[in-house]
Amino acid sequence: MIQAIKDLAYAFVPSGRLIELVDITLVSVIFPLTFSLNLYYIFLIPMEFFFFYFCNLGEVVLFNIFYEVFTVCTSIVAEDNKGNLFHGRNLDFGLFMGWDVKNKSWIISEKLKPLVVNLDFKRNNQTVFKSTNFAGYVGMLTGIKPHIFTLTMNERFSLDGGYIGILEWILGKRDGMWMSFLTRSVLENAHSYEEAKTRLAQTKLLAPAYFILGGNQTGQGCIITRSRLLSIDMIDLKLGRWYVLETNYDHWEEPLFLDDRRTPGMKCMNQTTQKNISLKTMYDVLSTKPVLNKLTTYTTLMQVSEGKLESYIRDCPNPCMPW
Ligand SMILES: *[C@@H]1O[C@H](CO)[C@@H](O)[C@H](O)[C@H]1NC(C)=O
Ligand SMILES: *[C@@H]1O[C@H](CO)[C@@H](O)[C@H](O)[C@H]1NC(C)=O
Ligand SMILES: *[C@@H]1O[C@H](CO)[C@@H](O)[C@H](O)[C@H]1NC(C)=O
Ligand SMILES: *[C@@H]1O[C@H](CO)[C@@H](O)[C@H](O)[C@H]1NC(C)=O
Ligand SMILES: *[C@@H]1O[C@H](CO)[C@@H](O)[C@H](O)[C@H]1NC(C)=O
Repeated sequence: MIQAIKDLAYAFVPSGRLIELVDITLVSVIFPLTFSLNLYYIFLIPMEFFFFYFCNLGEVVLFNIFYEVFTVCTSIVAEDNKGNLFHGRNLDFGLFMGWDVKNKSWIISEKLKPLVVNLDFKRNNQTVFKSTNFAGYVGMLTGIKPHIFTLTMNERFSLDGGYIGILEWILGKRDGMWMSFLTRSVLENAHSYEEAKTRLAQTKLLAPAYFILGGNQTGQGCIITRSRLLSIDMIDLKLGRWYVLETNYDHWEEPLFLDDRRTPGMKCMNQTTQKNISLKTMYDVLSTKPVLNKLTTYTTLMQVSEGKLESYIRDCPNPCMPW
């Protein structure tokens, strides 16, 4: 896995300078970052030690950065007509990182599947939040704070800042926050949907992102479209809009025609109807091609009122779109 990412990094920066930078410069940053989150990470700390000890630390950092840059996803928050909220997501990872012609699969996506884990973060033996994660990845892309809110993050490819923030961070200007560290911190520290929403909308980031947030009461579901500095748009559940769905494009613009997962996803949701939405029917929506594709590594379903998070490692049988 790490070797595959390294190969890619070398392809971009043939001298190996990127790896060097990451090794020498970033290591000093990630350790304090990891431990400043003052929670007793019952699972994570041993796991992070394992990775830091047995792998080259800089390579692990690189592995973490690549998640922030190469994920494409679909996230949905929906409310049934009794006011129950459901939140589902597909995590698609590994775009452009090597296609296995023989197996008709993405090399990295296949290697990631065995690394999918569900984590339960506890404090004083009480669950604070749960997440679906990849072993060795320290940020959060998918999580639930039981009975309070659910949160997922999708990549936003945008020119307004794009990766400049990440470059700046590598070069030492560190006033923005990694997107998935913000989600981790919000899952840990926010006590309500409103508080989570405010922090997600206002914290300065290293790169643009979409945050998809669901609350515990009727009408609490939104997509926050972020630039590095601020929230540039927010859409909420309201009368006549019983779900919000986000892939990797601004909702006021057409998706890239080669990669339209939004229209089929919405069509499926519309056909399912508000009356019939449940974790089961949401799973069906997320199993519809091309919402499900060769990059999809896992599907997670969350129901806030039950404090439930369940995830499924996915396989997309042929014929199936590469993305
Ligand atoms: C191709 O797929 C088969 C079965 O799914 C697997 O055993 C094999 O390791 C895969 N080959 C590569 C190169 O990933
Ligand atoms: C933590 O909670 C579990 C189940 O709720 C219980 O079995 C266990 O004994 C508790 N551990 C401690 C240290 O209190
Ligand atoms: C919903 O979240 C609020 C905190 O924002 C909490 O006070 C309330 O008890 C929660 N409601 C339910 C039904 O869990
Ligand atoms: C789904 O329904 C909404 C609301 O009625 C509508 O705006 C949208 O165009 C529909 N989308 C598709 C793909 O059917
Ligand atoms: C809703 O679900 C019921 C039971 O699963 C099914 O019979 C019905 O056809 C569904 N309605 C729609 C509009 O899909």
